[in-house]
Amino acid sequence: MQQVKIESCKCLQGSTTIPGDKSVSHRSVMFAGLADTPVLIRNFLFAADCCSTISCMQSLGVKVETLSNQELCVQGNGMHGLKEPETVLNAGNSGTTLRLLTGILACQPFFSVFVGDASLSKRPMGRVISPLSQMGCRIAGRQQSKFIPMALMPGKEITGIDYRMPMASAQVKSAVLLAGLFAQGTTSVTEPFLSRDHTERMLAAFGVQVRREGLTVSVQAVDSLIAPQVIDVPGDISSAAFWLVAGTIIPNSKLILRNVGINPTRTGILDVLKRMGANIILENEHVSGQEPVADITVQSASLKGTEINGEMIPRLVDEIPALAVAALFAEGRTVISGAEELRVKETDRLKAIATELGKMGAVLQEKEDGLVIEGRQQLQFAVCRSYDDHRMAMSLAIAGLAGSGVGIMEPDCVNISYPNFFETLRSLSIW
Ligand code: S3P
Repeated sequence: MQQVKIESCKCLQGSTTIPGDKSVSHRSVMFAGLADTPVLIRNFLFAADCCSTISCMQSLGVKVETLSNQELCVQGNGMHGLKEPETVLNAGNSGTTLRLLTGILACQPFFSVFVGDASLSKRPMGRVISPLSQMGCRIAGRQQSKFIPMALMPGKEITGIDYRMPMASAQVKSAVLLAGLFAQGTTSVTEPFLSRDHTERMLAAFGVQVRREGLTVSVQAVDSLIAPQVIDVPGDISSAAFWLVAGTIIPNSKLILRNVGINPTRTGILDVLKRMGANIILENEHVSGQEPVADITVQSASLKGTEINGEMIPRLVDEIPALAVAALFAEGRTVISGAEELRVKETDRLKAIATELGKMGAVLQEKEDGLVIEGRQQLQFAVCRSYDDHRMAMSLAIAGLAGSGVGIMEPDCVNISYPNFFETLRSLSIW
């Protein structure tokens, strides 16, 4: 599809079950692939990014059987049972596939090479290569090991380190911890702020002793992973985010979002929207596997501008494009700072948000590490670019839905995390 056109809607009504969490789906296949008993994964997100993880794991000798459109069975060959891939591993658009698997593969007694798409080829890899090299891993990449393509060679001896991360990043933290499972001694990672902890939770469910003290998390080598028989993937709060925002800013709306993961390291979007005045109610809260979930009801509400910074940023890092749209409909100014990590996501999201919402007539300023957004704006129809970034495409869609419509270029990128996004949008919209 070259372009999709979204018209402004009267309101949003109905309920939808939120598709599986992307971060948890990736980890479920990777960790099950290191175990030696089969694992049934339910509510798996069959989206392009997670399919990149599946195909890499298959190239490493792991059996993955698709049972239905949400279920798969993974049969690994144990902690030391991965085999040398016969060809390059393609991580596609997926930073999580690339960075987490780098942590695992840099510790294997074989050679492997990673490639990816144009966007992934521009994303920084030094942040994982540096700590892994300190552990004794041998990795070389394009432009003095800053980018993929990247080659991983067997290291002599992998030893644990005490690593202080310069940024809050679950991908970097996970890469180092996963390498720690193969390293001598203890591997510790300390973050400036807490990032999503799905790796820690799922490793614990696979029998690994994961020690946490404040912002430091440590592991030691294990001989085997003791796999759970079943992993239930919660719905992705990052996908729910678009409906949380749209249901709030479009008058006379009421949406029920079912089975949403509410891991506290991910619920910044709920805290910020509530602080802005949103009407959000959590019901049926329960724990599914290692992750808390709930059904969420959102109804339209008038919002006030706010400030988003500091430790809040990693708790909503993927939701900033959607929150920027919410800010356009709030009364007063919203200031987002400390969000420089957005510049190295699937696209430079700070620049993309400022440019594309600007085309709709929004008044917002791009800062080095954030955005200043003026509220209560009258948006006009515009044709906007997604830059092939799934979260940009979906954020533009809800801006158009709430404003005066939008044309979105390169809309197919929603397949990266939410393949049914446009169908769901049509089923919930009253025009
Ligand atoms: C992810 C971590 C985040 C997030 C990405 C998924 C993960 O990246 O932006 O979409 O699954 O670990 P960083 O933690 O590296 O910022």
